[in-house]
Amino acid sequence: MILKATELKKDFPRSGKSSNFFTAVQPVDLTVSSGEMTVITGKSGSGKSTLLNMLSGMLQPTSGKVTLDETDIYSLDEKTRALLRNEKTGLIPQGNTALLSLSVLENVLLPFVLYHKEEPPAARAKELLDKVGIAELMNEKPGELSGGEFRRMAVARALLMNPGILFADEPTAGLDSENTEAVLSLLRKAADSGAAVLLVTHEDDAAKYADRILTMDGGRLFDTGR
Ligand SMILES: Nc1ncnc2c1ncn2[C@@H]1O[C@H](COP(=O)(O)OP(=O)(O)O)[C@@H](O)[C@H]1O
Ligand SMILES: [Mg+2]
Repeated sequence: MILKATELKKDFPRSGKSSNFFTAVQPVDLTVSSGEMTVITGKSGSGKSTLLNMLSGMLQPTSGKVTLDETDIYSLDEKTRALLRNEKTGLIPQGNTALLSLSVLENVLLPFVLYHKEEPPAARAKELLDKVGIAELMNEKPGELSGGEFRRMAVARALLMNPGILFADEPTAGLDSENTEAVLSLLRKAADSGAAVLLVTHEDDAAKYADRILTMDGGRLFDTGR
């Protein structure tokens, strides 16, 4: 699976004095391939989430293109794009996102339940929860989890559909070093088993897991030579 960005750019409207627009991401070219873990670092506000959201099909770019294999994803209507996202990509969003009234297991099953009418793959979800080390918490509510446990749940949820591409936005924010290592090594394993992994972080922890490190600064993406 190959994800390719061409001249990908995002302007946000801004009622400033000098201009009505603020360019959060300057034209970016980027290719991410199967089995590879790419890390994008950069200060807060440098445009990392904006770039990741465009790459993952969540945010319409101002100009430029994102192709997933041969499909230009923003040429699709929203519904088709959502289906493609569900089928081919996994997302670990910034912050702790979950439906708090559902159990941990039900949250992990959500990507399936939202788009399919068949019996949800509970066995696979349990296997994933076991893999991320929180199987014994599957019947708890997410509100009862610690920060590290919450992130592990998010990893399991993102892996449920066996995605070709895994996007993670600051998945280790607020975690201690032990949980940070646990989450990063799970993402590394996903890459080793064939997924393309794109990880955005303002911390340095991820560097040693990465095949490639890029840096964002003021909306520009720089290749840091690995
Ligand atoms: N929806 C939005 N509307 C206007 N400005 C935005 C929006 N989202 C992000 N920005 C601005 O774009 C810049 C980059 O933001 P972001 O991509 O979230 O950075 P990062 O993830 O690196 O912290 C920031 O200056 C932010 O204020
Ligand atoms: Mg961000």
